[in-house]
Order: sequence, then structure tokens, then C-alpha cells
Amino acid sequence: MSRSAEFIVTASIPEVRQAVATARVNGCTIGCVPTMGALHAGHMSLVEECRKRTDYVVATIFVNPSQFAPQEDLTKYPRPLERDLQLCREAGVNLVFVPEVPALYPPGFQSWVTVEEVTKPLEGLFRATHFRGVATIVLKLFNIVQPDVLCFGAKDYQQQTMIRRMVRDLDLPVEIVVCPTVREPDGLAMSSRNVYLSSQERASALALSRALQLGQDRLEAGERDLSRLVAEMRSVLTVHPKITVDYVSLSDPDTLIELTEPQAEMVALIAARVGPTRLIDNRVLRISM
Ligand code: PAF
Repeated sequence: MSRSAEFIVTASIPEVRQAVATARVNGCTIGCVPTMGALHAGHMSLVEECRKRTDYVVATIFVNPSQFAPQEDLTKYPRPLERDLQLCREAGVNLVFVPEVPALYPPGFQSWVTVEEVTKPLEGLFRATHFRGVATIVLKLFNIVQPDVLCFGAKDYQQQTMIRRMVRDLDLPVEIVVCPTVREPDGLAMSSRNVYLSSQERASALALSRALQLGQDRLEAGERDLSRLVAEMRSVLTVHPKITVDYVSLSDPDTLIELTEPQAEMVALIAARVGPTRLIDNRVLRISM
């Protein structure tokens, strides 16, 4: 089957189902890249990977209200829709699903997906209902699009861990593909929220990737005391007056339980507020045991 060249933009669930069904009848495999828009090179790397793996690519653009707490940035979240659609068209996306809130959360909505242990630490301690909102919307998008492949970015490490858990636990017939974090040349992880940073904050934000690099460097130099290592990484951040650290953690890559002893593979996770903007980053750290 040769890939489809069509480009559809729709807010309609039945239209998505119809287009995907037609693509399937034509022999296409279906890929899906869920996003909240404000697309950047990180999102486009997901689209590229999805296009390599499937014949018909659906991107979804939906700023999902249920994953924002009341004090968070739902209303000011960037929504450059025309630009996003242009990027999708140029990247060879076949269908962009841009639903309105009432279509996905109809009056009386009360059904939620909760993935338990893996959502409790880290982000779960700071954003109590965030992962319930993400799991619910991802399951809904899965049910609407019914893709063979769903692509997510590694920057949201706890999110992709939770989604892989949900897919296993609920027997969802889909392959989850996690693509590497895309970084600016100076190391800053790409994020739709980077547009909030002033130039001074943008410079301070580099401390996140530097702290992660320090973690790897110290392990390579033989450091094995994890609490000392976390303290050193933290100090790379706290030296900046504009940064407030939410957490620096060395955790098990699958369970996300915080480690007290080193192991061959660990994930270092950071969340910090740079001025008013909350950023996250992570890096898998490896040592030979
Ligand atoms: O990673 C995101 O952009 C969002 O959490 C997602 C997966 C699109 C769900 O709204």
C-alpha cells in the first residue's frame, strides 16, 4: 500500500472514524501523534517517526483541560493553530483532529482512567489530578482514532511510563513508540512552554540539562552515593536565583520508585520553576556494575 496524500482538518469524531476506516480499507496502517499544539521540532520528530512506521498519520491538537489544575496555565497555553496546521501539512500528516472541549467532555462527563502507583511520585506530588486527565484523554483519543501506533516524546518520562502501563493493564491493541527528547543546540529540552521564558530565564533554564549531564559525568567518574549526587545536581539549579526546584530524583526507569542505591540503569528526573514557568527534563543514566 502506498501512503495516502490526503490532508484533512476536522473537529468531528465521526469524520475521523470515517477517514480512518477508509484508509484501513485502502490497506493503510494508522499512526497517531497526540499533541496539545504549539508544535515544535520535538512534535515534528514524532510525526516523522510515525510516518516511518505507518501509512496514514493522524495528529491530534487539543489543549486538554482535565490535565491542568485550576492555578495552571490552561487559558494562556499557546494556541497557534494556523501555524500548527501548516507544519502538519508540510510534514505529511494526513488528518489533524482539532476537537472542541464539549465534544470530548460532554455535559455530565464522569468517567476517568486512573493509573495508580506509577503516577504517585514526582509529578504526582505536585500535580494531583494531572495524570488522571492525561490517561483519560489518551484512552479517548485511542478509542476515536484506533491507531496501530501511538507516538509520545521521552521528555514527559512519567507520562510515557504511565501510558505504557495503561496499555499493558487494559490490553489496548496499540504499539507505543517513545521518541528521544529533541533539544535546542545548547541543550534546553524543547517544550511548548519555553515561549514563556524571558531571555534571562531562558539562560537559567539551561541548568536543567546541565544538572542531568553532571549526573552522568559524576557517575562515570565513579560517584556511587546517590544522595550526594542528587545534592550536587540540585546545586547546579539552585545557584540560579530565578529557579525553584520541585524535585531532583534518581529513580527506577520502570517503576519510578526513588533509588537509594545505584543500579545499572537509572532515570534522573528534574522539575523546576524558572521564574513562573514550570519545566521538566530527564535523562536515563547508565553505569557498569
Ligand atoms: O504530552 C502532551 O502533549 C499531552 O499530555 C497529551 C499526551 C497530548 C495529552 O493531552
